[in-house]
Amino acid sequence: MHKRQIDSKIYWLGALDWDRRLFDSLIPLPDGTTYNAYLIEGSERIALLDTVDPSMTDQLLTQLEGVSKIDFLISHHAEQDHSGTIPRVLEQFPDAKVVASPKAKGMLIDLLRIPENQFRTVADGETISLGDKTLKFIHTPWVHWPETMVTYLEENRILFSCDFYGSHIATSDLFVCDEGRVYEAAKRYFAEIMMPFRGMIEKNIEKLQDYDIRMIAPSHGQIYDRPAWIMDAYRDWVSGAPHNIAVLPFVSMHGSTRIMVDHLESSLIKHGVRVELFNLAVTDIGKLAMALVDAATIVVCTPTVLAGPHPLAAYATILANALRPKAKFLSIIGSYGWGGKTVETLAGMISNLKVEVLEPVLCKGVPSDADLEALDRLAATIGQKHKEEGLA
Ligand code: FEO
Repeated sequence: MHKRQIDSKIYWLGALDWDRRLFDSLIPLPDGTTYNAYLIEGSERIALLDTVDPSMTDQLLTQLEGVSKIDFLISHHAEQDHSGTIPRVLEQFPDAKVVASPKAKGMLIDLLRIPENQFRTVADGETISLGDKTLKFIHTPWVHWPETMVTYLEENRILFSCDFYGSHIATSDLFVCDEGRVYEAAKRYFAEIMMPFRGMIEKNIEKLQDYDIRMIAPSHGQIYDRPAWIMDAYRDWVSGAPHNIAVLPFVSMHGSTRIMVDHLESSLIKHGVRVELFNLAVTDIGKLAMALVDAATIVVCTPTVLAGPHPLAAYATILANALRPKAKFLSIIGSYGWGGKTVETLAGMISNLKVEVLEPVLCKGVPSDADLEALDRLAATIGQKHKEEGLA
């Protein structure tokens, strides 16, 4: 892919990774991804903003052929999908200074063994002039590592946001042209990457609110030339109230837990609660993460296996605990054959969640009428709690 102009003297460089289906050996990428770098040609100096994943190095180096010099190589984030090609770029442009936050400098030395004398660290709010263009560096820690920063190009009013506001979609579109599709991908990205740091991200959004941002150029996905909607979406995901939704991640071995799930689903709907089911044996874990962005209630539904929860239910619970969604209520339902410690085990896995735990419903074997009535009571309680929170 050739470099492409996004504004006067500003170019997209990078790679479309159509084939990648997993990130960090954890995160599903149903639509692949992109690694975006940007070249800014000032009247006196030239800056390259970020690089690409090492697997795509050759594409970036080809795009840099004919570039006369790089004075500054801006590294917003030390994670290797953006920084991993810095050493190869420095081989081609040995006089370039790597511009990074002080914390990023240490991480880039640890991860990539970049020589210390190659760096220029920048303080929060510091600027570098390229002649007729001015780069302002804004520290935005924990989006989603501790060292992250963004760059505001003052004259063009472009925010280069790296992972912030990013989305994993490989497409030939340079700019967002299908907002619905990008909304879904950006929400998935937020859920999987950013949600655990909601508090810090809220502070960073506040920090950016006084900037006049005409365009957001992230390091994954397409460029926002009408950025207001994605900024509004982030505000909602980060600090909006949870929605009147119960998420039911479930697994069933012989059908008993599934009967309970179906009964609870129906009962919740009768009580005016929206429901989302995720069969953990087959679900896209990214879809579950997305649902957790808005859910007010999580009900983990599992049979008992070897005296504890099914490993898939344990995995979903560990994931939810790690992602720290804004859910306010949690319960556990499921079946067992002769005993076990399913509730105790799962309860020990949710220390990060600020939830009120609602009375679990466990049944022996196939659910009895009394068990189904207990599920109706749980549904009624969830409906009532949502009403009291003003969600329904
Ligand atoms: Fe796209 Fe956190 O790297």
